[in-house]
Amino acid sequence: MARGAFGRSDAEIDLLVRGMRSGIAVVGFGYIGTVIGAVLADRGWPVTGIDVRQSVVDDINMGRTAVAEPGLSEMVANAVRMGRLRATTDFSAIADNDFVIVNVGTPLGPDYEPIVDDIKAAARALGEHLQPGHVVILKSTVPPDTTETLVRPILEETSGLRAGVDFGLAFCPERLAEGQAIHELTSIPVVVGAVDECSARACATLWRHALGVESVIVEDPRTAEMVKLADNVWVDLNVALANELAKICDKLGMDALQVIDAANTMPKGSGPVNILRPSMGVGGYCLTKDPWFVNHLGQSLGLDLSIPRTSRTVNDTMPGYSYSLLEQLLADQGKTVAQSRVAVLGIAFKNNTGDCRLTPTKYIVSLLEESGCELSIHDPWVADEEALSVTSIPMTADIESTVKDADALVVLAGHREFHRIPLTRLAELTTPKCVFLDGRNSFDPAAVRAAGFIYKGIGR
Ligand SMILES: NC(=O)c1ccc[n+]([C@@H]2O[C@H](COP(=O)([O-])OP(=O)(O)OC[C@H]3O[C@@H](n4cnc5c(N)ncnc54)[C@H](O)[C@@H]3O)[C@@H](O)[C@H]2O)c1
Repeated sequence: MARGAFGRSDAEIDLLVRGMRSGIAVVGFGYIGTVIGAVLADRGWPVTGIDVRQSVVDDINMGRTAVAEPGLSEMVANAVRMGRLRATTDFSAIADNDFVIVNVGTPLGPDYEPIVDDIKAAARALGEHLQPGHVVILKSTVPPDTTETLVRPILEETSGLRAGVDFGLAFCPERLAEGQAIHELTSIPVVVGAVDECSARACATLWRHALGVESVIVEDPRTAEMVKLADNVWVDLNVALANELAKICDKLGMDALQVIDAANTMPKGSGPVNILRPSMGVGGYCLTKDPWFVNHLGQSLGLDLSIPRTSRTVNDTMPGYSYSLLEQLLADQGKTVAQSRVAVLGIAFKNNTGDCRLTPTKYIVSLLEESGCELSIHDPWVADEEALSVTSIPMTADIESTVKDADALVVLAGHREFHRIPLTRLAELTTPKCVFLDGRNSFDPAAVRAAGFIYKGIGR
């Protein structure tokens, strides 16, 4: 039987997908691609990862991944051992699959414009091997109209086939958050914007059976593309709000988390107020760029938007603000940063991930380096090679040697390992009246103070 889910009846697609006979090619095996590929393989689907990086392909075929996400390494190792996951640089592998999910990167250019070169290259390579029946699903975050006006023409020209007639095409944004990616992939509804109804139904069937999640079908790919940007503008803006509330609470000597938790009990619209948490900064590959995509989009439409710019600006102040909190904490103890021994715990941009892309921790670490203080750094999630993007100081191998004799503990990622060591043990290892800057508000202030530290969180 010819491959492909497009053009079949709903019952046939249902049977094909439910019987797990559907092969799925995942193009772009970076953070998102590896999570999607591993989860689909774990749930029984034959998955082929396609990436231009030979090292990524070699790693996967050896059952390994450099993507540091809770539970992912075990999942990859198991899926490869079971023969359900393999990787290649050869796009002709697409021919053996029914669905092709594209997750290549979309970085920012020098003028904060989206760079879609990898999307173009992937579409060209994919188009050369596209066959009738394939369903192509773009998941990379892109500006509205990318699927219809960039990807579709490339696929059609290189394959000689027509989207919505010979093959299916849809945009389904990826909305998972790093650190809880595996859980979120199998619990968050998928937004589907397809070029035609048949593609939309094929996607919805795939997501229902493959991931156990429902789909929210919107009118077209451009609407789905806008949904992703709307989500991320909301998150960045909401965090900016929390961060400014935290700055006020710091001045007033109040606990911003108590304010936010109580404020969040007020019903509004279709749910309660939902102010997120303040922190020492926002980083990673999505929130730092997607609001700029929207700002750039506004400019291209002749609009002078202020929200995306404002939220980015506010959140970008937080590393410097947090550093000033540290200076004040030490000054209250009669010390300067320069004279102190400072232990940094965590440099990833987020708790329980090893991702240092665009991490706000880099700014604080740079300020510490410039201060001339005695600095030690530890992050159990970050590989040494990845750490080089943040600091040239070699990371210390374990928590105990990192914090030994420290005047200041600076928690920049609230990894679970930092919560496993008893606070009393940390207090024994550090100097008396050691200051404790909790940049992620991930510790209980009372417990940290009870252990003997001078605690300060962001807004608390
Ligand atoms: N990281 C996140 O949390 C997250 C969440 C939601 C959405 N997204 C979006 O998903 C997309 C992917 O993000 P990521 O974090 O996985 O990026 P990434 O950089 O980790 O992965 C991209 C992968 O694509 C590969 N690639 C580049 N060009 C290729 C080509 N022509 N053919 C095949 N492979 C190619 C790269 O080698 C890399 O492995 C981005 O658009 C991002 O905005 C990311």
